[in-house]
Amino acid sequence: MAATNGTRSVQVKIKRFQPGEKPEPYWQEFRVQVEGNDRLLDTLNKIKWEQDGTLTYRRSCAHGVCGSDAMRVNGRNRLACKLLMQDLGSRISVEPMLGFPVIRDLVVDMDPFFAKYEKVKPYLINNEPLPRTERLQSAEQRERYDETTKCILCGACTGSCPSVWANAEWVGPASIVNAHRFIFDSRDRGGAERLQILSDRTGVWRCRTIFNCTEACPRGIHVTDAIEEVKRAILYGSTEGD
Ligand code: SF4
Ligand code: F3S
Ligand code: FES
Repeated sequence: MAATNGTRSVQVKIKRFQPGEKPEPYWQEFRVQVEGNDRLLDTLNKIKWEQDGTLTYRRSCAHGVCGSDAMRVNGRNRLACKLLMQDLGSRISVEPMLGFPVIRDLVVDMDPFFAKYEKVKPYLINNEPLPRTERLQSAEQRERYDETTKCILCGACTGSCPSVWANAEWVGPASIVNAHRFIFDSRDRGGAERLQILSDRTGVWRCRTIFNCTEACPRGIHVTDAIEEVKRAILYGSTEGD
């Protein structure tokens, strides 16, 4: 890979957790030579392949699509595969996302996250007789929920939300984004049911409009705006898609 910014030495401080071997989490520092156009994921790979094979983290696509490598970098949730080393300083801290149980090192337990995601029924609901052709939708109707189709379920929004940190029961921003994607789909008939689910004490009203979620989203989704639209649909009963 050609360097755009020369080779430099960085210090990467990683929060480790190795249950069964060490009772408590601890920080470990690594010194790594990086190129300017290396991404953080390349740097973690270098550490794992050249310095400490026990370092554990998730990754798959390496191109910002699968959502598996969300982690807290210098205090902000980011995707390691989308983060250029040239945009980070020479001292970098990496830790697992907050608000998730840690399994090992940077790997968090996503099961509670996906249980909340499933709770909002993130799939098309329509029990009407099948039309002779596909269910038609205008460009404007498609545009209504276009942004929330872009979610890759990385959890960066949920893991950056203080309301989630304070209450593990709260459904969290990612679930609401995925509810939004169907609530405002003109072909869907499950909007009222989802709004009912999101009206309860674990629903949208625990959002305090803090905006960390929007700032964290690697897909540029205006998460807070989507949540506000769902709140308004609950208050005023209009989904334009139900
Ligand atoms: Fe990740 Fe953005 Fe989806 Fe949240 S809304 S899970 S930050 S892609
Ligand atoms: Fe949390 Fe985002 Fe609301 S950070 S409080 S979900 S605006
Ligand atoms: Fe797939 Fe980063 S490895 S999003």
